[in-house]
Amino acid sequence: MSLALGPTAQLALPLQCAGWQRFVKCAEKCTDMLLPSREVDFAAFIQSVTFCIIITGFYGVDPGTLSPVDVAFMTSALNHHSDGILRQTPHYPGELYAMRERVCRWVGGERASQALETILPAYESMWRLAAVTLAYANGNQHMHNAFLDFSENPTQRQFRSFKVKNTRPSVEAIINEVLRLHPPVQRIARKSRHPLWKRIFYPAQEIADVEAVHRSCVYGTRLETFDAMRFHPQHERPVEMQLLAFGHGGLSCVAEEWAPMATALIVAKIMDRVDDAFDARMYRNTRTGWDGWAVRKKEKGRDS
Ligand code: HEM
Repeated sequence: MSLALGPTAQLALPLQCAGWQRFVKCAEKCTDMLLPSREVDFAAFIQSVTFCIIITGFYGVDPGTLSPVDVAFMTSALNHHSDGILRQTPHYPGELYAMRERVCRWVGGERASQALETILPAYESMWRLAAVTLAYANGNQHMHNAFLDFSENPTQRQFRSFKVKNTRPSVEAIINEVLRLHPPVQRIARKSRHPLWKRIFYPAQEIADVEAVHRSCVYGTRLETFDAMRFHPQHERPVEMQLLAFGHGGLSCVAEEWAPMATALIVAKIMDRVDDAFDARMYRNTRTGWDGWAVRKKEKGRDS
């Protein structure tokens, strides 16, 4: 995916109830802290909130100690880093040093290297999943309401419950459908398992195209259409096969169980605080396709 991570890049994700409640508080604080009263760039805002929630939620950093300027520096450096990987250009060492210096300050020297290895894949996938979900829910009253219910009652039960007598999707189904159509990691790679003598005839790596698999008929009909109800168990052809968005087998993402609900929470808290009025064009490139998108803080006492 990105930085070369060892199998030790594990962390105690706040899955337990108390941990989850603290994570909810972090999400609220970070959203409020980074939302100015004027209109603000959509992608930059989602990136800052996501980064802030990761660093405060995973590492117990107090949101009040993060300066928005440092947060903006980190998101921009992480974006450069991901661009560098895509274009296969090395990272600018000064920037890497400056990132490490900030992370050391927030989480302490011993945890800094491991923290950076976790922050990057978490940030890169979660901000884009959050952004695309917000884009789909924008202007759709049912999806909007499902997220507002989840913001008010952020429990696993609420996350999973289908709405309006099972005719409208749950937050979980919406997130699954976004992951199906726009998996943040589009390809996964494995070392080729051909016997040694055959290896000169085959590439060293085998690549699975996650995006293409997700548009295959195992996932039902009208595969290019956003239809979160395909994940309902009583749908005419319910989706039985698991998504590949978190990879597969022993090397699959460590946050597979946790990240969908955590990202949904980010979306829910943002939706609760901003006006439902972004630019309505939706681009296929979920890293760079957000030019012209903006969000505005909700006026007090008015729900959109
Ligand atoms: C929307 C959320 C996320 C998606 C879609 C996602 C997806 C993926 C995928 C596809 C892989 C490669 C798996 C394979 O090769 O089979 C991966 C690896 C990984 N993910 Fe995630 N991930 C997400 C969130 C997170 C979060 C929140 C964390 C941190 C807690 C995380 C940490 C990692 C790590 C450490 C690896 C292995 C190292 C690497 O390849 O960079 N991911 N993820």
